[in-house]
Amino acid sequence: MSFSWHTKGAAQDPKSKVGLNKKNESARTRMEVCKALQHIIEGGRTIDWIRAEKSPWIATPLHRELIYGATRHYLSLQRSVTELLKKPMRDKDRDLFHLLIVGAYQLKYTGIASYAVINESVNASIVLGKPWAKGLINAVLRQLQRAAEAVQKDQQQDEYSALASATADHPAWLREKLEAQYPAQWQGLVIANSQRAPMTLRINTTKVEPGFYKAKLREDDIVFNETSMAETVILDIPQNAETLPSWSDGEAAVQDLSAQLAADTLMSLLPPHIAGPSILDACAAPGGKLFHLHERLSARFKTHQLFALDNKKKRLDETKIIGSRLGHSDDPRLTMLCADATVEGCCGDLHFDSILLDAPCSGSGTIRRNPDIRLLMQADHLAAHQDLQLQLLHNLWRRLKEGGTLLYSTCSIFAEENDQVIEKFINTQSDAKSVVLDMKYGSATSLGWQLLPLEKSTDGFYYAGLSKVKRI
Ligand SMILES: C[S@@+](CC[C@H](N)C(=O)[O-])C[C@H]1O[C@@H](n2cnc3c(N)ncnc32)[C@H](O)[C@@H]1O
Repeated sequence: MSFSWHTKGAAQDPKSKVGLNKKNESARTRMEVCKALQHIIEGGRTIDWIRAEKSPWIATPLHRELIYGATRHYLSLQRSVTELLKKPMRDKDRDLFHLLIVGAYQLKYTGIASYAVINESVNASIVLGKPWAKGLINAVLRQLQRAAEAVQKDQQQDEYSALASATADHPAWLREKLEAQYPAQWQGLVIANSQRAPMTLRINTTKVEPGFYKAKLREDDIVFNETSMAETVILDIPQNAETLPSWSDGEAAVQDLSAQLAADTLMSLLPPHIAGPSILDACAAPGGKLFHLHERLSARFKTHQLFALDNKKKRLDETKIIGSRLGHSDDPRLTMLCADATVEGCCGDLHFDSILLDAPCSGSGTIRRNPDIRLLMQADHLAAHQDLQLQLLHNLWRRLKEGGTLLYSTCSIFAEENDQVIEKFINTQSDAKSVVLDMKYGSATSLGWQLLPLEKSTDGFYYAGLSKVKRI
């Protein structure tokens, strides 16, 4: 999908009176953020797609702050802006609508001085080649400024108002589904979805001893909390990963705590006396769980074979780059293949002691990390995800040795992609038995284990273990 972008005038004409000098750099940033928003809201693109395909639009911390913030609060901001416009924006002026959304986000949710937000937004309308809209942008943002100041004065941000404002940022179907599946927790989930995700690190134990790396963090005044896993720390304040100690040497990776539970869980399900296990990670890109597993296996076994599949070549290529930084990509014990895991011949004639199926899913457990999900996910997507998840399970099951275990996981909190999938699978696969899991975080469901983003420390995540018994 492509949009025509109306930048008649200053933005494209080097001889223009306005030009694109340092002074209006932030107006240009604003314009790029508007383009990104337009691709998300009207083109159905994800923020990940913007990162991959339009990286200059999300290049700086300011771009990211504006894109993530405006997307997180888009639904409520859209209502506020629409109410103030006397008539809807023409299709060809949707850029101005998004300019107002970005300005409204800053006025309501950031401490940036209102006059700066308003001036820069007005400048951006000039950069967009629409100087006629200066008065409109100024008037709408001034009204929003007054409304934001009145709210700040009158209203303590108590629990009730936090819930009301977080609810306004969820589509009705999503809020209703949360309420139906989590009657006691939905309010906390809605609030959690509107917060920022923590930044969690995995220390690469093939490169550095965890205690040693933690000392490096302390030396750099990076404050962190320990977790139940020695190699996992949660930073007090998220920061650019590249500024972490020994980042380019691959001593650490960024990975949520709930995702880091996969490696230990899979290891705990391996037969006790196994030597040199052969393991498949069937949906591996971008390799978070794959590389953690490789680090764990390297510590426990003299040798192992780890096979990684993904059906997206580009994602697999990125995985190899990440693996190179961590020092894993050239390891002969690790094989990466681009293949479709729903296809019978995806793994040749190999059979595995254990399989990790980290299935494609709605990502409903990661909305605070990926705020675009709340705008792009539709209720009927869950059924389509379930179909694919079952196809993957049935095909991969043939590749599991008798006595072996498959660990199924999703970053979803909805039963359609979790217990329901496992139940349907077990009901049709007589040699599949559910394995009881017990993890340090989260709680048991009827057939698996669910983590919720209620505590600051974990994303929403689901795990279920399946063992292959003799066919009856
Ligand atoms: C949840 S992500 C995996 C995340 C990864 N395990 C990690 O920890 O970094 C799901 C992956 O499944 C891949 N995928 C989707 N359908 C697939 C298929 N039919 N066969 C193989 N991989 C597939 C997607 O490309 C995506 O990379």
